[in-house]
Amino acid sequence: MYLDPRQAIGVFDSGVGGLTVAHAIKQILPDERLIYFGDTAHLPYGDKSKDSIIRYSKEIGRFFVEKKCKIILIACNSASAVAYEEMSREFEGQAMVLNVIDPVVSYLRNNYEEGKVGIIGTKATINSETYETRIQKECTGLVPVSLATPLFVPMIEEGFIFDNISNAIIRAYLSNPSLTNIDALILACTHYPIIKNQISKFFSFNVEILDSAKIVAEELKIILKEKHLLNPEPKGKNEFYVSDFTDHFEKIAKMFFEEKINLKKVNLWK
Ligand code: DGL
Repeated sequence: MYLDPRQAIGVFDSGVGGLTVAHAIKQILPDERLIYFGDTAHLPYGDKSKDSIIRYSKEIGRFFVEKKCKIILIACNSASAVAYEEMSREFEGQAMVLNVIDPVVSYLRNNYEEGKVGIIGTKATINSETYETRIQKECTGLVPVSLATPLFVPMIEEGFIFDNISNAIIRAYLSNPSLTNIDALILACTHYPIIKNQISKFFSFNVEILDSAKIVAEELKIILKEKHLLNPEPKGKNEFYVSDFTDHFEKIAKMFFEEKINLKKVNLWK
């Protein structure tokens, strides 16, 4: 497959979560041009069936192919867990499809020989058992324990981030006995880095909180270099699309990108 390094990178999530990954890419690969799609009409993905998540993801993939993206980055753990294989097959020869789970598992393999690792994510991600299975197979000294924390996504999308409501919900989930004595915690949902500080604080800053955003952006840099796909020209304008306007999307996008965001609504499901 021939891909032009000047092509954009398509990044998608159900909402603002993938912006944490897009933001990390912007820091690490400032010359790359991003096209972001937040599927706010179908949010949250974490409560949807596997079939629905695959259907939404493929439609967004087609949108990125029409926009001639070199990479389709599934910046959503729920879609990475249940739709990555289908997406790779569907877009073979048209764009390179990447997920957010592979880089985190590689990071654990390279940095942890033993210990207990917590995984928190949406119901779709946790019920798929993708992380647990991969860790048991590829990081044999590690004991994974997982917990679905489904209220976090609507809480963040509604803008409850640094207040009593978010603190109470964070405390209620993280005091689950299964998470006692963990050595590291995987934020297996791209929305969660937005509340990373409060999560770290809950564990008295004694547990490494694995923020997939930075790990994924660093891995993307390695892949682009290896495949000679680093953009040689200063980047053009990033583009932002949503499937439905929500109050907080633009606000959070501006917070991350510190640039004027021209948010466009597109309906891919006519
Ligand atoms: N940010 C997404 C994830 O990483 C999706 C969350 C959701 O829509 O439920 O799983």
